[in-house]
Amino acid sequence: MKRLISVSELTKDEVEAILERAAYRLEHPVGQSLAQTVVANLFFEPSTRTRFSFEMAVKRLGGETLNFQPATSSLEKGESLEDTVRTLEAMGVDAMVIRHAENGIMRRLSEVVQVPLINAGEGTSEHPTQCLLDLLTIQRAFGRLNGIQVALIGDVLHSRVAGSHLNLLPQLGMEIMLAGPSAWMPEKLPAGVRLVSMERALQADVVMMLRVQKERMSEAELPDYSAYREAYGLTVERASRLKPHAIIMHPSPVNRGVEIDGEVVDHPQSRIFEQVRNGVAVRMAVLEFVIKRGLSTNVCHEAAGV
Ligand code: CP
Repeated sequence: MKRLISVSELTKDEVEAILERAAYRLEHPVGQSLAQTVVANLFFEPSTRTRFSFEMAVKRLGGETLNFQPATSSLEKGESLEDTVRTLEAMGVDAMVIRHAENGIMRRLSEVVQVPLINAGEGTSEHPTQCLLDLLTIQRAFGRLNGIQVALIGDVLHSRVAGSHLNLLPQLGMEIMLAGPSAWMPEKLPAGVRLVSMERALQADVVMMLRVQKERMSEAELPDYSAYREAYGLTVERASRLKPHAIIMHPSPVNRGVEIDGEVVDHPQSRIFEQVRNGVAVRMAVLEFVIKRGLSTNVCHEAAGV
């Protein structure tokens, strides 16, 4: 594994190895495996969780970060993004973590540099590390992934998180169902993915609410938020009817009172802040795999400073 642009590039073994390493990192959150390495964060869209968890991950493992600021960079003088990443590569950064609004940009950039690129959220297409941290959260809740039913509810169309989930989860033997307004459902469903009613979705093992992505809609496309909550929101009443073993997830940030009630964020079955915690560990694991090209998960290697 020398980059992470799409989850479709990962083998099942690689997914398992990343999750195993991330679980190890939850127990051993400090190390030196990235000592002497520099990771550049290039975020062209807002972020709290992804950006800072990558920064935490690098620093916890002894590396350093560069935070690229588009507004004060030479992009403002007309330099292309391709020349920008080539410039950072020439300086010797060890990896670049990139978030951008344009679908396909990661692949384009990966054609002009050799340095590992990590997709930190690309347009409406993919968010691979969010997908992996969600998998870690599910695995820790159920002890397995195979056979788990996951309901993705809401704005599937604009969700890059859903994009990665639709690509990867069926390959791991997980069952995906989608519920939400028909205008926000994909035109083509991947094999094994089905559309279900909201009531059926609430019977899943994992009830994953998706943010209404206001910033990707025109005025005319924006829903009436109150009507949306009535039809598809995870209200306190709906949360009270989930299966006792079910977990509530949301990639965040949440629109409280729209796709999920504020009280449900802190529901006993909610794993929303656990997802954030798991995100740091997953990003540690991904950085270790991408920069160090795979590591043993055993403690001996850590003790030996690998
Ligand atoms: N889930 C997620 O990507 O959050 P941020 O936009 O805060 O990074």
